[in-house]
Amino acid sequence: MPIAPRERLIVALDLSSVEEAAAMETRLGDAVTFYKIGYQLAFAGGLSYARTLSDSGKRVFLDLKLHDIGNTVAQGVKSVARLGATFLTVHAYPQTMQAAMQAREGGLRILAVTVLTSYDDGDLKAAGYETSVRELAARRAARARDIGIDGLVCSPEEAASLRSIAGTNMALVTPGIRPAGSAAGDQKRIMTPSAAIAAGADYLVVGRPILAAADPRAAAQAIVAEIAQPAAKEK
Ligand code: C5P
Repeated sequence: MPIAPRERLIVALDLSSVEEAAAMETRLGDAVTFYKIGYQLAFAGGLSYARTLSDSGKRVFLDLKLHDIGNTVAQGVKSVARLGATFLTVHAYPQTMQAAMQAREGGLRILAVTVLTSYDDGDLKAAGYETSVRELAARRAARARDIGIDGLVCSPEEAASLRSIAGTNMALVTPGIRPAGSAAGDQKRIMTPSAAIAAGADYLVVGRPILAAADPRAAAQAIVAEIAQPAAKEK
């Protein structure tokens, strides 16, 4: 079933308190239906706030990048499912992915992070891997698909090549989105919302272009409009 444009936008609540997050959610109102909570907010009360959001009908992506022994991952995944979250990230290690998939329940879907985008080939070597980022990401994506993982987090630049590995059943979720004219910040490999959708992304994670906008609601609405009409705005 096609996903409505508004539901493809996930706003990253990269804020350090629940008060700030709740104020942002109020400003965004019905323009945004899906929120991502990462380490910063999760460890500052954001897990109970995730429950509040899901109880109020919003969808929640908990970006906790789990990785531990299977039993620990499985128990953690069950607790996250009870928070009403829709997406949870785990690192793309086979045991971790298998444990997460076996434990997931309710509406929770598991996303795998193949290789952190801050890693280059040198960082992999330093971590003990004799392979390139490109090869490892492709191999892990194939393994994730074989295990039945629900989706992958990837840069918009990787979306087209990962789609050929992932097939159509897996969701591709891409951060690194910048509407034309907005500041890149520390993101290096960026794409506009329309280009990312055209490249095959299913969901776009957007933080600063919305959080730091003078009018966050208008910024979110502009991105949704661009998602709805990718061809019209494609550069
Ligand atoms: O503010 P910005 O739009 O750059 O936020 C993007 C969000 O996506 C942040 O929460 C960031 O942690 C996350 N992310 C990312 N790049 C990745 C993985 C996650 O920017 N490779």
